[in-house]
Amino acid sequence: MGKITGAEASKRNLEICKLAPVIPVLVVDNLDTANGLGSALVRGGLPVLEVTLRTTCALEAIAEMAKIKGGVVGAGTLITPKDVENAVAAGATFGVSPGATSTLIDACEANGLPLLAGATSASESMALMERGYTVQKFFPAQAAGGAPFLKSLASVLPQITFCPTGGVSLANASDYLSLSNIECVGGSWVAPGSATNAHDWDAIEKLASDAVAQLG
Ligand code: 3PG
Repeated sequence: MGKITGAEASKRNLEICKLAPVIPVLVVDNLDTANGLGSALVRGGLPVLEVTLRTTCALEAIAEMAKIKGGVVGAGTLITPKDVENAVAAGATFGVSPGATSTLIDACEANGLPLLAGATSASESMALMERGYTVQKFFPAQAAGGAPFLKSLASVLPQITFCPTGGVSLANASDYLSLSNIECVGGSWVAPGSATNAHDWDAIEKLASDAVAQLG
């Protein structure tokens, strides 16, 4: 991938956020679940898959999921430039980070990886905006003030679109999605470890399709 600017990254991430109301946040412990899990979510109507770099097989899981027709696979929990290089090599087409540093942003831009960087304050959002990042993750969403906080930011920073993640569930997702500055939410509730480890792909597909039916 060639270089990418912050504005270009945000343009691409806005397109990605518009694909579905929920980005599943995936913690893949066993590589043999990657294809089944990703395929079930895509079948259920959630094509955007964020695989967190928090397990030993995460990069291989990204490579597996990148083969799924109709899926858009990204790498989450990006912290270092090495994470970015590894994610791109594995086939990630977007990246997500809990916060942002100039080192991480530079690495994503140099590697052409559209970064959905995290912010939890007006100052952090403004700093990202100065670099062109008008689409941002809001993490940890519930703990950092939830929908009321984002509603307040919509008044003063209406040009920023957020993807709240962290503590989001089917019960509170619509509180976020009803706001003018939210395009989608992220969450792990659509891919619980119990169903994943049991290879219960029908259950995962149903969680995804229920989310689309109620939030889409
Ligand atoms: C993440 O792991 O990036 C998100 O915080 C997921 O949070 P959740 O498990 O509360 O959905």
